[in-house]
Amino acid sequence: MSQFRQKATISPHIALVHGIASTVFARARARRYFFAVALDLPTIRAVKEYYARRAAEYDATSWQAFDEAERETVERFVASLPPARVLDIGCGTGFLTQFLRGSVVGVDQNADVLELARAQVPGAELVCAEVPPLPFADGSFDLAFSSNVYSHIDTAAARAEFVAEALRVASAVVVLEQSWRPGREREAWELRRLLDGSEYRVFKRYLTSDELAHELDGVGVLRSAEFVAVRTPR
Ligand SMILES: C[S@@+](CC[C@H](N)C(=O)[O-])C[C@H]1O[C@@H](n2cnc3c(N)ncnc32)[C@H](O)[C@@H]1O
Repeated sequence: MSQFRQKATISPHIALVHGIASTVFARARARRYFFAVALDLPTIRAVKEYYARRAAEYDATSWQAFDEAERETVERFVASLPPARVLDIGCGTGFLTQFLRGSVVGVDQNADVLELARAQVPGAELVCAEVPPLPFADGSFDLAFSSNVYSHIDTAAARAEFVAEALRVASAVVVLEQSWRPGREREAWELRRLLDGSEYRVFKRYLTSDELAHELDGVGVLRSAEFVAVRTPR
């Protein structure tokens, strides 16, 4: 049995952006707001503000800023995933969602990025929700896909909760992230500066393919210069 199924009851506590922005996600909405009030409600607003402010420039300053060959490698990888009932967790603007095949659902906490996703992936169903919990029944999907979300989760318990929740709703999860390489800090609260000059501290981890596969109890399915992806079955 996957370690993530065993960890499914761990209380979630995810902080994505800290200092200027950090946030807490809890399993149930009522519980989430209890923690938010008790711990750090202003920072929840800050993380939403970060993603809302970044929405319009996200593709240009992330995917379009990568080397073209590298970006195309990732696009081909995503397009190679089997056509199925697929959930994209933290789909953002839908840049990669558009390459998923089958019956595609995207979920994201941010309404602004979902507006962009709506235009970029008109065929997908898009759901605005903070996760966990994922607002879907057990086994609703054949595959959960998530890119550039897991590496922003700053506690082991919350990472385990994220994967356990993905495997509750899907038979397998594919996690795609930027990989560690020499000279890159393994984890840090990175300073992110948006085009309007506003600054946010964002938590980010970088793992090698082997490290990510070990941590996720899965198998490496993509290893490019910049990205790694691991598939973990339920
Ligand atoms: C770095 S972006 C990645 C977007 C997209 N997956 C990609 O690779 O281009 C992270 C996205 O995850 C979303 N997100 C972060 N934490 C979330 C949470 N707890 N629930 C739902 N969405 C979340 C953010 O709103 C943002 O759109």
